[in-house]
Amino acid sequence: MLFSKFLFSILILFTLTLSAVKSQGFKCKTTTKCQSQVGYLPANATTLSQIATQFGVKDFNSLLGANNLPLDTPPSKSVSVNSTIKIPFTCSCNNGKGISDNSPIYNVTSDDFLDRIARDLFSLLITYQEIAAVNNISNPDLIDDGQLLWIPLPCSCDNLDGNQVVHYAHVVVRQNGNGDVETLDMIANELGVTVESILKLNDGNEEPNAETVLDVPLRACKSTVSNTSPDYQLLVPSGTYTLTANNCIKCKCDSKSKSKVFSSNKLHCEPSPPEIKVQNWQKCPSVRCIGSGVEANQPSYALGKRSYIDNTGCNETRCAYTGYDYQSREISASLVNGSICPGEYHYHIL
Ligand SMILES: *[C@@H]1O[C@H](CO)[C@@H](O)[C@H](O)[C@H]1NC(C)=O
Ligand SMILES: *[C@@H]1O[C@H](CO)[C@@H](O)[C@H](O)[C@H]1NC(C)=O
Ligand SMILES: *[C@@H]1O[C@H](CO)[C@@H](O)[C@H](O)[C@H]1NC(C)=O
Ligand SMILES: *[C@@H]1O[C@H](CO)[C@@H](O)[C@H](O)[C@H]1NC(C)=O
Ligand SMILES: *[C@@H]1O[C@H](CO)[C@@H](O)[C@H](O)[C@H]1NC(C)=O
Ligand SMILES: *[C@@H]1O[C@H](CO)[C@@H](O)[C@H](O)[C@H]1NC(C)=O
Repeated sequence: MLFSKFLFSILILFTLTLSAVKSQGFKCKTTTKCQSQVGYLPANATTLSQIATQFGVKDFNSLLGANNLPLDTPPSKSVSVNSTIKIPFTCSCNNGKGISDNSPIYNVTSDDFLDRIARDLFSLLITYQEIAAVNNISNPDLIDDGQLLWIPLPCSCDNLDGNQVVHYAHVVVRQNGNGDVETLDMIANELGVTVESILKLNDGNEEPNAETVLDVPLRACKSTVSNTSPDYQLLVPSGTYTLTANNCIKCKCDSKSKSKVFSSNKLHCEPSPPEIKVQNWQKCPSVRCIGSGVEANQPSYALGKRSYIDNTGCNETRCAYTGYDYQSREISASLVNGSICPGEYHYHIL
C-alpha cells in the first residue's frame, strides 16, 4: 500500500517534470499580454486570406500592416513558397513563458498527424510535442478528425534593456541557393536588429542550427498613448504600420533611422484614409488636439501634423494621438514637444 502510494508520487513527479521540460514559448518575466509576431514560411503557395484564416488573424488590416503591404492589397493576393509572412497575434505570459493567447486553433483533418501540422502547416514555429502538451494529448499518434488543437506560438512581452520591443519568432532555415544554414549576421541584417540583441535573448553565443526558433527583438516606435486607452502600449515595429481606435487612426513607425542603436523612433499617427472600414463605431469622430490655449483648435494642429519647428531646427511641436474611449466615442490627441535631431527622441506631453 505504502509502496504503491510511493510509486504514485513518483509518477506524479515524473509527469510534472515532463511537462516542465515540454513547457513552451520564449522567456517572459512579466505577467501581461502584448502584441507579438512570428515569421511564417508557407510550405505551398497560398494566399494572404488563407494565412489569415489559418492563424486566426481576425483583422486582415493588421496582417497587411505587419508586412507593410498597402491597405488596398486584396485578400486573394498570392504568397509564394519560402517567402516570409509576419503574423501578428496576442501574446500571453504565465509562469515565466510566453505563448499565443489561446489561438490559433487548428481543426484536424483526416490525413493529419501532429508532426505534419507542426512542420508543414506551421513551418516549425512549434514542435509536435509542444502542441501535444498544451492540448493534453498523451499519445501524439492519436488525434481525431475535427479535433480542435490550440497551436502555442512562442512569444514574449519583456522589455530589452529598458526598451519596448516586439518579440518576433524566427525559424532558422537553410538558404535556397547553397543549402547553408542562415547566420546570425544575415538574420540580424534582414530584421534590422543587432546580433548582440539576438544573443542576449537566446542564451547563446554560437551560430544556431537549422530549425532553431530564435526570439528576435524588433525595434518599435515609442507611442504617446495614455494608459487609460484600450490600445495603451501600442507597439508598432519599425518599418510597419497599424490601425487603431476602431480603425479610425493609422499609426506608422518609420524605419528611416538606419542606426542600429535602440533609441526608438517616434510613432506617427493620423486619421485613416477614408476608404478604411470603421469598426464598432458608425463613423470616426473628429479629433481635438488638447494643448495650450485656443491655438489647439486651429487647423495647423490637425492630428499628425507638425505645427512648429524652433529656430534650431531640432525641436518640434506636433499634435500626437494619445488614445480613444470606446463608450464616449472620443479620440484624443495632445500637443507634444519633441526633438527631431538624430540620436535622441524624447516626447513630453504638455
Ligand atoms: C503541399 O502540396 C503537396 C503536393 O500537392 C501536398 O502533398 C501537401 O500536402 C501540401 N502541403 C500543405 C501543407 O498543404
Ligand atoms: C489540460 O489540462 C489542464 C489540467 O487538467 C487544464 O487546466 C487545461 O484546461 C487542459 N487544457 C486543454 C486544452 O484541455
Ligand atoms: C472542423 O472540421 C469539421 C470537418 O470539416 C467540421 O465539421 C467542423 O465544423 C469543424 N469545426 C470547427 C469548430 O470549425
Ligand atoms: C524552399 O526552401 C527549402 C529549404 O530552404 C528548399 O529546400 C526548397 O527548394 C525551397 N523551395 C522553393 C520553391 O524555393
Ligand atoms: C530642445 O529640446 C531639448 C529636450 O528635448 C531641450 O534640452 C533643448 O533645450 C530644446 N532646445 C530648444 C532650443 O528649445
Ligand atoms: C514646447 O514648445 C513650445 C514652443 O517652443 C514652448 O513654448 C513650450 O514651453 C514647450 N513646452 C515644454 C513642456 O517644453
